[in-house]
Amino acid sequence: MRLAGKTAIITGAARGIGRAIAEAYVREGARVAVADIDLAGAEAAAAEIGDAAIAVELDVTRQESIDRMVGAVVSRFGSIDILVNNAAIFDLAPILEIQAASYDRIFAVNVKGLLFTLQAVARRMVAQGRGGKIINMASQAGRRGEALVAVYCASKAAVISLTQSAGLGLIEHGINVNGIAPGVVDTPMWDEVDALFARYEKRPLGQKKRLVGEAVPCGRMGLPEDHTGAAVFLASSESDYVVAQTLNVDGGNWMS
Ligand SMILES: NC(=O)c1ccc[n+]([C@@H]2O[C@H](COP(=O)([O-])OP(=O)(O)OC[C@H]3O[C@@H](n4cnc5c(N)ncnc54)[C@H](O)[C@@H]3O)[C@@H](O)[C@H]2O)c1
Repeated sequence: MRLAGKTAIITGAARGIGRAIAEAYVREGARVAVADIDLAGAEAAAAEIGDAAIAVELDVTRQESIDRMVGAVVSRFGSIDILVNNAAIFDLAPILEIQAASYDRIFAVNVKGLLFTLQAVARRMVAQGRGGKIINMASQAGRRGEALVAVYCASKAAVISLTQSAGLGLIEHGINVNGIAPGVVDTPMWDEVDALFARYEKRPLGQKKRLVGEAVPCGRMGLPEDHTGAAVFLASSESDYVVAQTLNVDGGNWMS
């Protein structure tokens, strides 16, 4: 029960990695807000997780939605101790074909949405005066470029950079900001990724997913549950001296 008495917001927790983290936090004693643009999905997830979970509608691209979500969580739980900034979207295209609309959408969710959700929650944590834990979901995509994935890679490099700056800027308030960089994880997002690679690399559906899984030093794709240990550690007092780091949880794909 390493998170007993704590309250957490997890964005994009209706499914995938965020949902697994929500379940793990509840197992560790926390109360959790499943915050997602997919309210029906968030409600279904919260109902399955149990009484310690609530669903809250959130579109990280809209400041009023962020503020409403923070207000709803505070009025329900009384305080916020942990934020997992997990919501993100994916797209790919060759450099010569990238569309401005795709760039704007990815940066609006993955970078601007992440920063202003972090800011709104951090303001609340500073006002509470007892620190907090913020975990940003980066990616191995933020560690290096990829020919077809330029914009998503750049957005995740920005997440790693924002984690460093916010980590340095907020530790004086006792708020630890750190990140997790997953590798390739078997979630609904990767099914979308696989379909896009199939189109651009002219592959049968499912082939790219199988190949990236076989290429992981661990020998398989990650599962959402593979990320919960790091997420619990970074949310607990065991990580009080860990500041502005992004931890690779990727089966050995990347070393830094
Ligand atoms: N799946 C992978 O292989 C992988 C690898 C590295 C990093 N990641 C990162 O891990 C995180 C979770 O990935 P996943 O695979 O579980 O994704 P997913 O697509 O399965 O889930 C993402 C969730 O975010 C929500 N969301 C999307 N836009 C939103 C918005 N504007 N406001 C609020 N919620 C929104 C979606 O409704 C969805 O529930 C993301 O940050 C992703 O970039 C995933």
